Amino acid sequence: MGIVTSVHLDINNGWDALNDEVPQGADLVFAHPPYWNMIDYAKFRGKKYVHDISSIGDYDAYVSVMSSLFTRVYESIAAGGRYGVLLGLIRRRGKLYDPARDIQFHGTLVDEVIKVQHNTSSGRQDLSGKYGNSRFTRIVHEKLLIYQKQGYIERSG
Ligand SMILES: C[S@@+](CC[C@H](N)C(=O)[O-])C[C@H]1O[C@@H](n2cnc3c(N)ncnc32)[C@H](O)[C@@H]1O
Repeated sequence: MGIVTSVHLDINNGWDALNDEVPQGADLVFAHPPYWNMIDYAKFRGKKYVHDISSIGDYDAYVSVMSSLFTRVYESIAAGGRYGVLLGLIRRRGKLYDPARDIQFHGTLVDEVIKVQHNTSSGRQDLSGKYGNSRFTRIVHEKLLIYQKQGYIERSG
């Protein structure tokens, strides 16, 4: 893709998306945030981070925090730049949550990519071959949304 420099940020390596600055001027940001509290990353890694997004208990609070985060991401990118966000569905007590639909994103949606999701809890079978929750169709995909900021990037070559 001709990427010259890339920066990789996660609370796990000391960068807190909710409080630290988003690096400015990137042509492309790729974000893979927690799908609400589907996986408790703190517990998963045996470490507790105070601002871990996956510890937000309330869905509306999660959506609001993520909407603010993506406003900051949008503001941070260069004119004409793009950001992509990979998100999946969550089913909780029979209710379906779709953060990709509920979070407010800025810019123009220029692409939507459907990706097969592996190792989901709804995809696990018991010894008789029955899926965990057979009342619903299994969740087997994630969505990569790509948004573009208005403007023009002058490129050499
Ligand atoms: C869906 S996973 C993405 C994992 C990534 N694709 C990888 O392969 O390492 C969500 C990530 O968000 C991170 N995270 C949770 N809260 C965060 C925060 N406040 N700031 C930065 N990263 C956070 C978690 O540590 C976790 O690694």
